[in-house]
Amino acid sequence: MAVKLTKLIVLLVTSIPIFLPLSSPSTTYTTLNQGSSLSSPGDVLVSSPSRVFTAGFYPVGDNAYCLSIWFTRARAVVWMANRDHPVNGKATKLSLLHSGNLVLQDAGLLPVWTSNTAASTAAVALRLLDSGDLVLGSKENSSHVIWRSFDSPTNTLLPGQPLTVNTKLTSSTSPTNHSSGFYKLYFDNDNVLRLLFSGSDLSSVFWPAPWKASWESGRSTYNNSKTAVLDRRGGFSSSDDFKFKTSDFGAGPRRRMTLDADGVLRVYSWRRKWEVTWQLPVPPCSVNGVCGVNSLCTYSTYSSAGLGRSCACLPWHRAKNVGDWSEGCVPDFDRIPRCDSADVFLRISHTEFYGYDIGFDQNKTLEECESICLSYCDCRGFQYKFDWGAGVYNCFPKTLLFNGLQSTGFDSPFYLRLPPSSSSWSETKPLPLQLQCNNSVVELERVYTRENKYGLLRSLAWSAGVLGAVEVVCVLVFLYKTRACGEKLRDQSFIQVATGFTSYGVVVLEMVTGKSPKEIDFDLVDEDTSSSSVSDGIEECDGLKNLVRVALQCAQEKSDARPSMREVVHMLLTH
Ligand SMILES: *[C@@H]1O[C@H](CO)[C@@H](O)[C@H](O)[C@H]1NC(C)=O
Ligand SMILES: *[C@@H]1O[C@H](CO)[C@@H](O)[C@H](O)[C@H]1NC(C)=O
Ligand SMILES: *[C@@H]1O[C@H](CO)[C@@H](O)[C@H](O)[C@H]1NC(C)=O
Ligand SMILES: *[C@@H]1O[C@H](CO)[C@@H](O)[C@H](O)[C@H]1NC(C)=O
Ligand SMILES: *[C@@H]1O[C@H](CO)[C@@H](O)[C@H](O)[C@H]1NC(C)=O
Repeated sequence: MAVKLTKLIVLLVTSIPIFLPLSSPSTTYTTLNQGSSLSSPGDVLVSSPSRVFTAGFYPVGDNAYCLSIWFTRARAVVWMANRDHPVNGKATKLSLLHSGNLVLQDAGLLPVWTSNTAASTAAVALRLLDSGDLVLGSKENSSHVIWRSFDSPTNTLLPGQPLTVNTKLTSSTSPTNHSSGFYKLYFDNDNVLRLLFSGSDLSSVFWPAPWKASWESGRSTYNNSKTAVLDRRGGFSSSDDFKFKTSDFGAGPRRRMTLDADGVLRVYSWRRKWEVTWQLPVPPCSVNGVCGVNSLCTYSTYSSAGLGRSCACLPWHRAKNVGDWSEGCVPDFDRIPRCDSADVFLRISHTEFYGYDIGFDQNKTLEECESICLSYCDCRGFQYKFDWGAGVYNCFPKTLLFNGLQSTGFDSPFYLRLPPSSSSWSETKPLPLQLQCNNSVVELERVYTRENKYGLLRSLAWSAGVLGAVEVVCVLVFLYKTRACGEKLRDQSFIQVATGFTSYGVVVLEMVTGKSPKEIDFDLVDEDTSSSSVSDGIEECDGLKNLVRVALQCAQEKSDARPSMREVVHMLLTH
C-alpha cells in the first residue's frame, strides 16, 4: 500500500515538470569566466554575495531585449548597455571572449555592443557587485578593474557611483520606452552641474536657472574636479557646491537617483515600493520642452501624485499631437503673421515666454513695442514687462514661443501676433485646454508579451486540462485503493495529494507571471485577485485572469481555503 502511495505521489509530482519546458531553461551565474556567455532571454548574472542586483536581458518591446542591470526584487532598471539598439530575444549572447573583450552579439552575430577591453593580458572574469556595478576585472585580483558599468551610466546613479566629467545621465524617452530621451545631467565646461533639454530642434539648459549667475544659484565654478556622488545615507554632494539630503536621510533603504523621462531628477528609496525622497526643487514648468512650442504650461501645487502640471495651447492654436505634448501646438489660422503691418496683437495675461528674444528695448510704450515687433518679419509676439527698479515698461520681442508659462504669480502680459484678417480675435476667449500633460503614465503596447501570453494561455489551458484529468484519475484511483485504510492514513495522504495540487498552482503562477515562487506575494491573495500584484498588467486577458485566480486559490497555504478538484474543474470550464 505504502509503495503504491509513494508511486502515486511521485506520479503527481513528476507530471508537473513535463510542462515546465514552456519557460526556456536558464542559468544563474555569479561569475562569468572567459569563454562563457549569457544567453537571452533567461540567463542572468546575480550580484554577490546578497543578490541585490541582477544583470541579464530586460524586455523592452516586441521580442526586444536590452542587456541591463536591475534591482532583483524591486525590478527597477539601473543600467542598460544597448538602450538604443535592443536585441532579439532568441540566440543573443553576451560573451566574455578569451581575448578579454565583452561582446553582446545579436542573432545575426553582429556585435551590438562591446566593452572594448580586448588585449588585457591577465585572466579576467565578469562579476556583478552588490553596489550594482558590473565589473570586468582580473580573476585573481578583484581590485584590478578593466571595465565597469559605473563608468557609463544611463539614467540612474546608484549610491557610491560618481558622476564625473566623462559621464552623464540621459533620461529615457518615456517611462515605458527606455531609449535615450531629451534630458541630460552633466558637468559643463565651467565646472557647474547642469540639466539640459536637448530636443531634435531646440536645446537649452534649464537648471540651474539660466537667467542667474552661477554664484546666485549657490554654485562654484572654481573646482574643476567635476565629481558628484550620492552616498549610502542619501546625501548628495557635487564639486560645484551643490548639496542636498534626501527626506529619509540616514542608513537604511536602497536608493537610486534617476533622471526621469519628464526631465525631473529624483531620488527614490525602496520601502516595498519606490518612494520619491528628493526631487529637483525647480518649478515643474521650468523644465524646458515640457509643453513644446506655442503652448503654455500651468501648474497648481506639488502633489504626491505628480507635479500638478498641465499644458494648454495658445489661443487660436491646436495640439499637434494630443498624445505627445512635447510636440507643441500649431496655429489654427492659415497664415503665420509675417511682414504685414496690419497684423494685430492679442493680450494674454499672467503669461511669460522665456528665451528666443530678438532684442530688448527699454522704456517703451505699448504702441512702440507693437511697432518694434511688426518691424521684424519673424516676430511672433512680445513680452511687455514692467521694471519695478527703473519704473519703466520694457519690450521683449520673440521669434519663437517656447517655454511658455502661465501663472497668477506673473504680472506681465504677453502679446501674441495674429493675422489681420479676423476682427474676432478675442481677448476673453478662454484658453482651449486641448492638450493635457497629466502625469498618468500611458503604457506602451508590449506586443511581444501580449502575444506570448495568448500562446502561453493555450499551453496553460492544455496543461491544466491534462493535469486536471491526471489528478482526477489519480484521486479516484487513490480513493479506491485506500478505501479500506484507517482514517488517519487517509487524512495524511490527502494532505500530500493537496500538496501536489498546491505546486500545480505555484507552477501556473510562475509561468503566468514569470516570477519565481519566492517573488510572488501570496499575502496579497484575496477574494479579488485582480487587485493583487500577480495579475497586474493582464487585465486585458480574462481567460488568463481566471487561470491566475484558480492558481492563486490552489496555492493557498491553508488546505481548507483551497478549492476542491470539482470547483477547479468548474472554474476552468465556466470561463
Ligand atoms: C591588485 O590590483 C591593484 C590595482 O591594479 C594593484 O594596486 C595591486 O597591487 C594588485 N594586487 C596584487 C596582489 O597583485
Ligand atoms: C522609443 O522611442 C524611440 C525614440 O523616440 C523610437 O524610435 C522607438 O520606436 C520607441 N520604441 C517603442 C517601442 O515605442
Ligand atoms: C573640489 O571638489 C572635491 C569633490 O567634491 C573636493 O574633494 C575638493 O576638496 C574640492 N577642492 C577644492 C579646492 O575645493
Ligand atoms: C522713458 O521715456 C520717456 C519718453 O521718451 C522719457 O520722458 C522718460 O524720461 C524715460 N524714462 C526713463 C526712466 O528713462
Ligand atoms: C490624463 O491622461 C489619461 C490617459 O491619456 C486620460 O485618459 C485622462 O483623461 C487625462 N486626464 C486629464 C485631466 O486630461
